[in-house]
Amino acid sequence: MSVTSSFSPVPRVTPSPTSWHSLPAYTSVPEALAAHVNDDHLYVLYPEKIAQAAQTFLTGFPGSVLYAVKANPHPVVLKTLWEEGVRHFDVASMREVELVHTTLPQAKMFLMHPVKSRALIAHAYAIGVRDFAFDCLDELKKIVAVTNGAKDLHLHLRLALNEGDAVMPLTGKFGASHEAVFNLLPLARDLGQKLGLCFHVGSQCLEANNYATAIHYARQLVDEAGVKIDSIDVGGGFPVAYPDMPVPPMQTFFEVIADSIKENNFDTVEIFGEPGRALCAEGGSTLARIELRKDKDLYLNDGVYGSLFDAGQCAWKFPVELHRDRPPSPAANSVPFRFFGPTCDSIDVMTGPFHLPEDAGEGDWVEVKHLGAYGQGLAGRFNGFHSETTVAITTPERQER
Ligand SMILES: Cc1ncc(COP(=O)(O)O)c(C=O)c1O
Repeated sequence: MSVTSSFSPVPRVTPSPTSWHSLPAYTSVPEALAAHVNDDHLYVLYPEKIAQAAQTFLTGFPGSVLYAVKANPHPVVLKTLWEEGVRHFDVASMREVELVHTTLPQAKMFLMHPVKSRALIAHAYAIGVRDFAFDCLDELKKIVAVTNGAKDLHLHLRLALNEGDAVMPLTGKFGASHEAVFNLLPLARDLGQKLGLCFHVGSQCLEANNYATAIHYARQLVDEAGVKIDSIDVGGGFPVAYPDMPVPPMQTFFEVIADSIKENNFDTVEIFGEPGRALCAEGGSTLARIELRKDKDLYLNDGVYGSLFDAGQCAWKFPVELHRDRPPSPAANSVPFRFFGPTCDSIDVMTGPFHLPEDAGEGDWVEVKHLGAYGQGLAGRFNGFHSETTVAITTPERQER
């Protein structure tokens, strides 16, 4: 079901924002729109929702909560989580390390990406990071070599898992096979001060038992290899409710994980979880303006090359709300629409369907919700991997010009 709200754009008196952590702050979307009507789409953060999600995890998850920075690296999101009590951060790139280090100097960082550059490992170690993931011998050797055989490492061996019930499976790219684990576990035990197992059941995991299966698998591996471990990191994957995608309560996931840890005699090891989506998806949205309507197709000023990548590439259905400067239509009249993004590319399409009032049209704004995770953060610089360097390769004659 869609909802509408109305706002008053310029030239009426523009609301002057107060601020929240240096962001312009308003009490409603219509108020924000009235102050920011221009050619760009807008990103919205809802700090109360981020704070609430943080409390859900901090009070319910049976272990330490690492925020997966990739989900939304906005410094204000990091600060909000810190204010709520999140102290551990999962980072993947040089830029994420720098971001967390400068924004939250007291934070404990974990480099849980199984593939890292030597420069990243060296820099992270130099500023105090001791937790590193790996899933093969070469990465393990790399970590040890770059840190000069440091004796204070906490090494996390990432396990390959079967696909499971996640909407966005993360199998196939990372993770040590059953066989590889036997070689790696004893080696890493000797090299690190602490040794852990980690895995990811896939993002937006709809079935809590997938965590139990993975924890049980970890117990089998530890027993078969005869190696003692110090930690288990159950990764991310905790789901958020999207249209047509109901999810069990988060408490169910926490209980299943806690029970499974007990049943598999892991009570004495340290437990970590790395939620990304579940901590910030509902805490953010994108406001995109309708530039043109053709029948049931709406042409927006943001799309798959911006924050709506998952809506296009993964045909993900996000909740939507229409904001407009005219009387709202009755919500009952909502009809399905397809979205197009602003670029010339024909893959810049989001099939949805997205349900909006049937008279939605040019100048109205669509709030695409739950984009606090993998929306704002995906727009161009996902995971902190991008380049600001362009070089020219040309003849010496041209170089002198
Ligand atoms: C290593 C790692 N940890 C945590 C996450 C966060 O996962 P989610 O947003 O599904 O909770 C991801 C997501 O890709 C990941 O790769």
